[in-house]
Amino acid sequence: MTKLDIGIVGLSVMGRSLALNMADHGFKVGGYNRSAAVTQQVMRDHPHENLTPFYDLNRLTDALSRPRKVMLMIQAGKPVDAVIEQLVPLLEEGDMILDGGNSFFEDTRRRAALLAEKGIHYLGVGISGGEEGARFGPSIMPGGNAGAYESVRPILEAIAARAMDEPCCSYIGPDGAGHYVKMVHNGIEYADMQLIAESYLLLKYVGGFTNQDLAHIFKSWNDGELHSYLIGITAGIFREADDLADGELIDRIKDSAKQKGTGRWASIEALKQGVDISMITSACTARIMSNHLDEREKAWELIHSPAVSLSPDKEAFAAMVREALYTGKIIAYAQGFSLMQDASRLYGWNLDLGKIASIFRAGCIIQAVFLNDITHAFEAEPKPESLIFDRFFLSRINEHQDSLRQAVSTGVMNGLPIPALCNAVSYLDEFRAKAAGANLIQAQRDCFGAHTYERTDREGVFHHEWRWANDNQH
Ligand code: 6PG
Repeated sequence: MTKLDIGIVGLSVMGRSLALNMADHGFKVGGYNRSAAVTQQVMRDHPHENLTPFYDLNRLTDALSRPRKVMLMIQAGKPVDAVIEQLVPLLEEGDMILDGGNSFFEDTRRRAALLAEKGIHYLGVGISGGEEGARFGPSIMPGGNAGAYESVRPILEAIAARAMDEPCCSYIGPDGAGHYVKMVHNGIEYADMQLIAESYLLLKYVGGFTNQDLAHIFKSWNDGELHSYLIGITAGIFREADDLADGELIDRIKDSAKQKGTGRWASIEALKQGVDISMITSACTARIMSNHLDEREKAWELIHSPAVSLSPDKEAFAAMVREALYTGKIIAYAQGFSLMQDASRLYGWNLDLGKIASIFRAGCIIQAVFLNDITHAFEAEPKPESLIFDRFFLSRINEHQDSLRQAVSTGVMNGLPIPALCNAVSYLDEFRAKAAGANLIQAQRDCFGAHTYERTDREGVFHHEWRWANDNQH
């Protein structure tokens, strides 16, 4: 038998779709799943001349051309370590394992270091685009040993989505860089989704728009600068009739959202690194708060709500929300890219933010026309320290920030939960703050804990005996 190009371990939705995508592109793929029934089902439902089933890992690795490439498409966490343990005795120096799941980047760093001792390469490969993307072209973020990547590059580039005729797949950097970037991608995804959900609340409760109106509004937004996968599916969602009851499905869906954890990881890493990604964090906490349905119901009864006043000019209101959403989106992406920029310095990854933006242009969940502008911003020399400093985005922020402020004040005055939009304004004002109030924080710290303070008129650190402040306690 001709040797196979790659083995895929894990044939549930993502693994199976990726295997078929590779097979469609002429690569000979071996498919293995822990449960043989799943493998049999895949072969029954999707027979393909380039896809060979395996029921034993030993046989699979034997059938692979060298260096062997085994891609794991399994649940992140312990299952990955368990499969690696099974695979290692079957592999030899120069072979590689690719992890295509949403693994935590520190796990990827640990696994890469461990396998490097045995001469086996470990590539942490971020993959975005859901089932459809995996099947017909995802955005791919491979990290790990650059030499090892070269041997798998033809496969990954062939199956990736394409934007402006370039594959949405590019080597990201060593060890955990690929999974780190995927984690930030997901964080941005959370913020983007939250901004859209908050725009929906404003349009529905203050704008007074029906689901049909909303479908129309989002569709028209998708024809302009907000054109993106998420806005496109949102327009379609409002049109969807309920198959189990009357009316539209959206009105029957429970108002509480889950998360698997990648956005939370991004928030934790940002806090550890000292980078503000408040919009991503607020999107995580919004999902957390949404889960407290009983408490929310009780609080709704107990805490007086401001009277909601409908907007008199619906068209102008929708235009204002659109500009607020667009501005919020710029700030959310600026936060995400700042986090990657900081990680690049911290871990010595040398991340190319322009390239990363370019592979987000198609295939992934956050794909948007707006990513062309982000690509240009980070391709420019000198590179902006923040996306906000890029001339194009700066002009958009200056043009639209009034709408953002207006959307936030409207939401707040009407008692709507709009944390991502609120954080967008706060971030902007903190980012451009002439006065941040931190002089008082320094004084307080020095006063209660002798933590010292810095001055505006001379170098060094100082301590003051805060006589008045301490006298006031008696
Ligand atoms: C993607 C997505 C995907 C993620 C889901 C669900 O890029 O294809 O980010 O990887 O698993 O979006 O994520 P949550 O369950 O955390 O919302």
